[in-house]
Amino acid sequence: MVDIREAIRERHSVRAFKDLPLEAEAVKELEAEIKVCNGLSGLNIQLVTDEPEAFSAGKPGYGKFRNCRNYLALVGPGGKDVEIGYWGERIVLLAQCLGINSCWVALTYKKGKAAVDIRPGEKLYMVIALGYGETSGTEHRGKPAGDISNIDASSPDWFREGVEAALLAPTAINQQKFRLELRGGKVSAKAGFGPYSKVDLGIVKYHFEIGSGKDSSVWL
Ligand SMILES: Cc1cc2nc3c(=O)[nH]c(=O)nc-3n(C[C@H](O)[C@H](O)[C@H](O)COP(=O)(O)O)c2cc1C
Repeated sequence: MVDIREAIRERHSVRAFKDLPLEAEAVKELEAEIKVCNGLSGLNIQLVTDEPEAFSAGKPGYGKFRNCRNYLALVGPGGKDVEIGYWGERIVLLAQCLGINSCWVALTYKKGKAAVDIRPGEKLYMVIALGYGETSGTEHRGKPAGDISNIDASSPDWFREGVEAALLAPTAINQQKFRLELRGGKVSAKAGFGPYSKVDLGIVKYHFEIGSGKDSSVWL
């Protein structure tokens, strides 16, 4: 099993999967992690396995998936976009450690067909496709650290490493519309304007914590 910092470097979005079920042991580990995440966050994230409908033949082009029969359904009360990103990415990175590839999917799936349990007051925000990829995906060009943070030559290593990990976070259409600023030993994290930028911010915050080695007390 690779370590979580390695998982951050190895993760890329994967949209074509081998026709293989998730291994039983991996499912157990994912379910246990989901339980912990839901307990800590109040979200209702669910793992759906062997369900072909949500990703059944879509239109060709961007966001087309092949052989996707497993996904995480990101369910929770309204107004929890940042939390959905943060806790969803925690499960994504565990999956990556277990050799399971993924792709966050807000739009290019059949929302009405997703097999999820939505309680009163909750909604399905989006899903995350999971499976053993035909490839492990490709690296995408990211913004320079100076464009998304106030990093400079005097910044401490932990901030630089946090920013580097944040730049490897998946964001909707690779927009990377977030800003991280070190101020008096703490970090301010702000979402820019763009589709799903608050979910992106949660994903980025989880990556930053792993990269920097800090916990959530680092946030201003
Ligand atoms: C919130 C969010 C929503 C996304 N929605 C979709 C989608 O609907 N369809 C899709 O194919 N990819 C989707 N993606 C994947 C992004 O396109 C991908 O993460 C980005 O291009 C960066 O590539 P990487 O994940 O390989 O680093 C989404 C990603 C995020 C974070």
